[in-house]
Amino acid sequence: MQKDHFEIKAKTWDSGSERVENTKSISEAILDRFTLHKEMEILDFGVGTGLLGFEIAKEVKKVYGVDTSKSMLEKLEEKNTPELSIEAICQDIIQTPLEKNFDGLISSMTLHHIEDLRAFFTVIRKNIKDNGFIAIADLESEDGTFHSDNTGVFHFGFDKDELCTIIKECGFKNIVWERINSIQKPHRDFGIFLLSAKI
Ligand SMILES: C[S@@+](CC[C@H](N)C(=O)[O-])C[C@H]1O[C@@H](n2cnc3c(N)ncnc32)[C@H](O)[C@@H]1O
Repeated sequence: MQKDHFEIKAKTWDSGSERVENTKSISEAILDRFTLHKEMEILDFGVGTGLLGFEIAKEVKKVYGVDTSKSMLEKLEEKNTPELSIEAICQDIIQTPLEKNFDGLISSMTLHHIEDLRAFFTVIRKNIKDNGFIAIADLESEDGTFHSDNTGVFHFGFDKDELCTIIKECGFKNIVWERINSIQKPHRDFGIFLLSAKI
């Protein structure tokens, strides 16, 4: 397992109001685009403390949250209740794929931490059921100033055409890219996209 870059950040992750607002926008955009229901099992990739996953968990049968950071998952598990919970899985699913299939995969602000995008999309495609979906939100192309420390960041956001080409080549269809939010920092704004696709 790689070093836990989120060990320090996990302690205060949920107190970032801009982060909480951004995940609310992502959750609303996913709910606008896809009809979720109580028989669905959804995988949240890079679930972190569950900011997105818990919103989606209200709408479906079960959310599984995968993450490589033990510290982030510990914070998530503190938030689990009998009424609303996420099953946390601490695993690098690109190296060691999950054997389970899901109705959909959601992800918030994690893709820029993934070095080999083709490997990621090839692996996760096998974990999505026929007619299932992916809904991935992250930064549009930026100049490397979004994070104050770029440790563990492999992409300074994403170019629409490049990312859509990769996922098409990995077997996804009905690909839609939409700008759903922007995050204001003192020096500039950063666009947030939602990339949706079907199997
Ligand atoms: C920027 S945080 C986002 C957390 C959460 N999705 C949110 O929006 O609050 C990125 C998360 O991705 C996780 N992560 C990084 N690389 C990963 C990988 N290869 N597999 C699974 N999770 C990963 C990190 O540990 C971290 O929890």
